[in-house]
Amino acid sequence: MSVHNNTKAKKITTHVLRNMKNEGVKISMLTAYDYSTANLLDKAGIDVILVGDSAANVMAGYETTLPMTLDAMIYHAASVVRAVKRAMVVVDLPFGTYQGNSKEALSSAIRIMKETGANAIKIEGGKEITESVSRILTAGIPVMGHLGLTPQSINKFGTYAVRATNNYEAEKLIDDALQLQHTGIFGLVLEKIPANLGGKVAKMLSIPVIGIGAGGEVDGQVLVVHDMLGITQEFSPRFLRRYHNLSEEIQNSVKQYIKDVKSGDFPNEKEQY
Ligand code: KIV
Repeated sequence: MSVHNNTKAKKITTHVLRNMKNEGVKISMLTAYDYSTANLLDKAGIDVILVGDSAANVMAGYETTLPMTLDAMIYHAASVVRAVKRAMVVVDLPFGTYQGNSKEALSSAIRIMKETGANAIKIEGGKEITESVSRILTAGIPVMGHLGLTPQSINKFGTYAVRATNNYEAEKLIDDALQLQHTGIFGLVLEKIPANLGGKVAKMLSIPVIGIGAGGEVDGQVLVVHDMLGITQEFSPRFLRRYHNLSEEIQNSVKQYIKDVKSGDFPNEKEQY
């Protein structure tokens, strides 16, 4: 059995992920934003934990990821890192902390690495962020890219529909992916693009390609943990597989608790001093 399937394997690094790709071992990745969830994911053997700026949606209740601040990302990421022994922890640089100013990008990335102890950062965009990626890499900080549906650009696109469905956009995505790899990113997230394009990019690149709605021919998969556990119910894209219905389970438990408190059943004799 490959060591990469062994949840007791040593810390996952960029090097381990590259080997996994070369050996055809799929990479598992989920988001987490807090200590307790990260602890469970790590113990279960997840390879990569993404402290995504989707925290803006599932933790803070914002409609988009744009309001997320660097301080808030640092708070979430530090909580996750305290729980994790094995998984690689990747942290999103939030909107407005890297676009158009590579010096600011570097200082944002340095703050994340210094104040959280995370292993890498992720940023959205193609050729237009090459200078920021380059500068961050000069500090020895591993960078993960993110192409396809890039939620921080939602106001430019105006829709969360599938991306790169025409030749022009597909070719642009391929060019961006090659350019980012050339610049030195260690991995790439592809979000909501046709499966054949996802597979094509994964074959062209030597770095691991992780998909969310990018089909099964990429090197690994990522989902937002609240979605795959069924805590959120309103978000149901085709690419989402729900492994649990925690929303219903939590509500049923809370309803039972309320009933027990109101009836005086809780606490019973054994539950008091
Ligand atoms: O913020 C996030 O959770 C992400 C994933 C959807 C890839 O970027």
